Formats: sequence, structure tokens, C-alpha cells
Amino acid sequence: MQALLTPRIKREIPSWRTILQMKNKTEVIVLAAGKGRRMHSDTPKVLQKVGGRPLLQHVLDSVRAIKPVKIHVVYGFGGQQVREAMSGQELNWVEQESQLGTGDAVAKAIPFVDDKSNVLVLYGDVPLIRSETLIRLVEMTHSERLALLTAVATDASGYGRIVRDANGRLERIVEDLDASEEEKMIREINVGLIAAPASLLESWLGRLDDNSNAQGERYLTDVVEFAAASSPPAVTCPTTDLDEAAGINSRTELAKAERIFQRRQAIDLMANGLTLHDPARFDLRGTLFVGENSVIDINVIIEGEVRFGNRVKVGPNCVIRDSIIGDDVIIEANCVIDGARIEEGCNVGPFARVRPDTELAPRSKLGNFVEIKKTRLGPGTKVNHLAYLGDTTVGKEVNVGAGVITCNYDGVNKHRTIIEDGAFIGSDSQLVAPVTVGKDATIGAGSTIRNDAPPGKLTITRARAKTLQNWRRPKKRST
Ligand code: UD1
Ligand code: CA
Repeated sequence: MQALLTPRIKREIPSWRTILQMKNKTEVIVLAAGKGRRMHSDTPKVLQKVGGRPLLQHVLDSVRAIKPVKIHVVYGFGGQQVREAMSGQELNWVEQESQLGTGDAVAKAIPFVDDKSNVLVLYGDVPLIRSETLIRLVEMTHSERLALLTAVATDASGYGRIVRDANGRLERIVEDLDASEEEKMIREINVGLIAAPASLLESWLGRLDDNSNAQGERYLTDVVEFAAASSPPAVTCPTTDLDEAAGINSRTELAKAERIFQRRQAIDLMANGLTLHDPARFDLRGTLFVGENSVIDINVIIEGEVRFGNRVKVGPNCVIRDSIIGDDVIIEANCVIDGARIEEGCNVGPFARVRPDTELAPRSKLGNFVEIKKTRLGPGTKVNHLAYLGDTTVGKEVNVGAGVITCNYDGVNKHRTIIEDGAFIGSDSQLVAPVTVGKDATIGAGSTIRNDAPPGKLTITRARAKTLQNWRRPKKRST
């Protein structure tokens, strides 16, 4: 389809210079005032998330690719929440106090648009739209006409239908709720994006009425009838990618969009050299940078910003958030890793919990049922079983035995533990911080260490075992 469209679009484009000038004059209006009644949620619909990012943010991110001179966002329901979620971005916020329809929403924003600009209108609940498509649509408005994005859906229900005359010429859009049985059969839908010269759009908006439809609203889609009858007449810009046309009105549609988005990301990552054992069981809610030849097993969730070196292996059921994972690291099944830097050749898990501000130096090992936070392990250090290390600095080639706990919290304040190079901490010991275990020191199993342990020596607090010679096991009394 892309190939088929190209020649037609080429004919319509006068020159790159004109396009550039035209693009410079594009202003964007994003409609984000609706409550999203069909979501049954207090969260404004445009703040529902796909891939961990609000729907509205997806729209704004793809819009930026066309470098608009201004982005106007029409807000209403949950306005403060919406504005806060988008803070730090250069946006002109336009309030629509009552949600009287998409036509009314655009009419609220149009006075802020320079009447020499082109306007691109997008809906905040159509999040998967691609930047390339926006560019294509904007380019079609060049000769003072409206351009409208359409798609042919397998299931058109819920969408506005594109009504054409006997010669296939665009006539108008009819909304799902207003459509006759015959019109409901039309599978060509309005994706919800239009581009038009601002002055024309403003004049068409002025002619809208709000009493003639099922919802008693002013429909933006009704401008199409006026635009189709103008000279030059409105044109449609088809997309064959139904995924990008997906509008989100219900939780079912939200879940569908999530899968579409995840599949897109998985395809991109695989194209960049990542092996996913099952792309349908992988979720990225943020950004993942991959090196070469890394492998991710099933049911892995990546959140925030995560960077992989080369040849990283991640086992099934892991969650990795805001972390840097070096070359040749192996993360076994069922680990949760958050805010960590794991350097090359480390082994983590299975069942490890790595909490923020943790650094594992090259070739260190963190085994099963180990929790670690605000801690640095030196190169070659091993913490292999059932341990808790918090606020600890561990040197190189240290061995921390099973069941070792740093008691970093006295109930009020946190304190640090220092374990120097080559130390050996016997199993089931408690290190009561602040405390230092010296270089090459050995702590005997089962010790509670409150004072610094000197380098090179064995320190032990274990009570001696005694055997009671005359003791007998109690016997069960007969009743
Ligand atoms: C709309 C289109 C329909 C199209 C579909 C694509 C209209 C009348 N219908 O229907 O042709 O096929 O999208 O997904 O435009 N909004 C406001 N203010 C309002 C009303 C809505 O800002 O007063 C915003 C909503 O927050 C939403 C967007 O506009 O982001 C679309 O509104 P929605 O009610 O979801 O329209 P649909 O019924 O989906
Ligand atoms: Ca919608």
C-alpha cells in the first residue's frame, strides 16, 4: 500500500522547499478534555497508560516529529491532573469547561492559532499514530484544503464512517450512533486526524450546529461535509496500518493497544539484535538500549531506562527497572532489579532482589534469595544464598555466607557496614552497623558482630555447644 501511494503523493507535493515552509507553519491541536466515560475510571482517559506512558504523551511524542510551531492541548475533565502529568513540556493549554463535543473543543483552541498556519487536529485517545503518517497528512493540505486520515477496518463499530457518493467522492462523515443500518455497513472509518488551513477550519467550525445528532454535541467530523463541498475539495489520506488507527474508549481497547505497542517495540528490539524467546510475552515500559547478542526469556518486564551491554542473558519472570547491565551478565529466573549497575560477567539470581543504589563490580555473584540495597560489591565477591546487605561497601573477593544479615537500621537511623577485601563472613552472622570487618578477616558462623573485626583474624561470638548426657526425649503419654 505504501508503495502504491507514493506516486500519488509525489504528484501532490510541489517541492521540498514548499513542504519545509509549510511544515514550519503547522500548529497542532490535541483534544484531551473528555472523561472517557466508557473507561469507568477517575483517571482522565488521556492519562491511561500504554507501555507505561500516558496516551496523551504518545500523541505528543509523535507530533513533535513534524516540528509544529505550537502545540495546543484542549483539556477539561481532570484538567489539573492532565497538566501536571505533562509538566515541563512546551504546550499551550486551552480549557474546555464542558465537553460539548470535538467540534466545540477545536473551536475553543482555534482563536490561539495564527490564521496563516495549517492546523493538525489529533485526538488524545488515538495514541499509536506514527509520525510518518502525520507528515503525510500535513503534506496533503498544501493547496488550501482539508485532509483527513482514513482506514478500512475489519470491525468499524464505534468509529465515524466515511460516506462517499456513487463516484467514490468524499461526502461526509457519519458517527456510529447516528448511522443508518446501511451506513453502519461502511468499513472505511475516520481515524480522527484532520489537517486544514486554520482560517478555513475556523469558518467551517462556525457553521456547526449541535442539535442534529444523537449525542447533542458539536461534532468536528461535521466540518468534513463543508470541506468536501469546497474548492479544492477535501481529500482522504488512507493508512493501511489499522493498528495506528486504534482509538481507545474502553479497557478492552486499552489492553489491545498495549499489545500492539508491545509488539512494535519487540520487533524494533529484535531488529537491533536482541533475541526474545517470545515477543508476545515481553513488556517494555520505558526504553531499553541493547548491545549485541543478548537474550531475554519469557515474561520479562523492563521499566524506565535500562541499558544492556553485549551477550546479556535474562531468565524468565524478571523485572528490570532503571538499571545498567554490563557485558556477559547472567540474570537467572525470577529476579527483581531496580536502580542497579551490574558490571560485566556478574551472575544474579535466581530469586534475587536488587534494590536501588546497588553496584556489582565485575564477576561478582548474587545468589538465590538475596536482597541487596545501597550496596557495592567489589570484583569477584560472592553473596550466594539467603542474605540481606543494606548500606554496605564490600571489597573484592569477599565471601558472604548463607543467611548473613547487615543490621543497618537501629529503628531510627541507617548505618553503614564496611567489609574489606578478602574477608570471609561465616553463615548466619549478623553485622550490626556501623561496623567494619577488616581485610582478610574471618567471621565465625553464627556470630553477632557489634565491634570492628580486625584484619586477618578470626572473630567469633558463638556460644559453645554443650551436650546434656542424661537428657531423654519426652515420650507420648498414653491416655
Ligand atoms: C471520534 C470521532 C469519530 C472517530 C473516532 C476515532 C467525533 C465526533 N467522532 O469518536 O469519527 O472515528 O473518534 O477514534 O469527533 N474530546 C474533547 N472534548 C469534547 C469531546 C471529546 O476534548 O467535548 C476529546 C476526547 O478527550 C478524546 C477525543 O476528543 O480524546 C475524541 O472524543 P471521543 O468522545 O472519544 O470520540 P469518539 O466517540 O471516539
Ligand atoms: Ca475515542
